[in-house]
Amino acid sequence: METRGRRVGGKSTTREPIIQESEAAEEFEPEATRRRADVTESSRANRGWWDRNADEYQVEHGTFLGDDRFVWSPEGLDEVEAELLGPPEELKGKSVLEIGAGAAQCSRWLTAQGAHPVALDISHRQLQHALRIGGTFPLVCADAGALPFADGSFDLACSAYGALPFVADPVLVLTEVRRVLRPGGRFVFSVTHPIRWAFPDEPGPEGLSVSASYFDRTPYVEQDEEGHAVYVEHHRTIGDRVRDVVAAGFRLVDLVEPEWPSWNTSEWGGWSPLRGNLIPGTAVFVCERDLRD
Ligand SMILES: C[S@@+](CC[C@H](N)C(=O)[O-])C[C@H]1O[C@@H](n2cnc3c(N)ncnc32)[C@H](O)[C@@H]1O
Repeated sequence: METRGRRVGGKSTTREPIIQESEAAEEFEPEATRRRADVTESSRANRGWWDRNADEYQVEHGTFLGDDRFVWSPEGLDEVEAELLGPPEELKGKSVLEIGAGAAQCSRWLTAQGAHPVALDISHRQLQHALRIGGTFPLVCADAGALPFADGSFDLACSAYGALPFVADPVLVLTEVRRVLRPGGRFVFSVTHPIRWAFPDEPGPEGLSVSASYFDRTPYVEQDEEGHAVYVEHHRTIGDRVRDVVAAGFRLVDLVEPEWPSWNTSEWGGWSPLRGNLIPGTAVFVCERDLRD
C-alpha cells in the first residue's frame, strides 16, 4: 500500500516528507504507516506537526490562499462565488467561528463582510501567522473537540480543511460545533474527498490508478523511531461523513464537490489539473442546526 506523503499540509509537487526541511523540525525522517490512532494521540501528533510545519505551509500556500480571501479548497473554490455561508450581504453582524483557521485568511474575509469571526486553531504557530498578517478578531488556541465557548455562542461556523481530516472522533467535533451554534445556525466544512483515499497521493498519471481500498478506514500515520505518531490523518467514506453529520444532530443541506477550474494550474500533493478533471479532490458539507432544537 502506498502511504508516503498523504498529507493535507503537503508540498505542492513532491511527496517527500517535509519535516526535515523545516528549520524548526526534528532531524528524523518519519516512517509512514497505517495503524490505529486514538483521539489523544491524533490530537497531540497534529498539534506538534502543525506547529513545526506552519511556517512552511504558509510559505507554500499563502499566496494561493491570499491574506484575506475565503478559499475552501485546492480547487480554488471561493466563498465569493460559492456563497455556502449565505449571501455575503447577510453576513453583516453575524458571529462566526472558524475552526482550524490556520493563518485565519477566511476570518479576515468575513471581517470585511461585516461579520464578527473568532479564529480557532490547535496550533499556536499557525495562530502566530494569523497575528503576523493581522486582524481585529480574537484568536483562540484550542482543540476542535473541546470548544471553549458557551452553548449557542455563534450564528455560523466554518472550516476550510481545518481539524476534521485529522481527528479520530469527528462526531465529537461536530457535536461540539452544533452545541456552540444557535438554533438555525449553519456549519460548512471542507475535507479531503473520501475517494482520494483509494488513489496514490500523486498529481501525475501515477496518481490515477486505485492502490488502496476506499473502505479501509485505518488511519494514515507518520511516526518517529519510538513509534509515536507525529502526523495523523483519518479517513471516512462519504457514507461515514453523512452519518457523522446526522449523528451529531445536524441536517445535511448540501454536499458540494468542487470541479477543477481551467484557470487553476497549481499542484498541491495529489490535487492537480490532471486528477481534478477526472475525480473530485474536495467534499464540502453544508449542515444546519434546526431552528426548533
Ligand atoms: C490544512 S490546514 C487548514 C488551515 C486553513 N483553514 C487554511 O485553509 O489554510 C489544517 C488546520 O487545522 C488545524 N487543526 C488540526 N487539528 C485540529 C484540531 N483538532 N483542532 C483545531 N484545529 C486543528 C491545524 O493546526 C491547521 O492549521
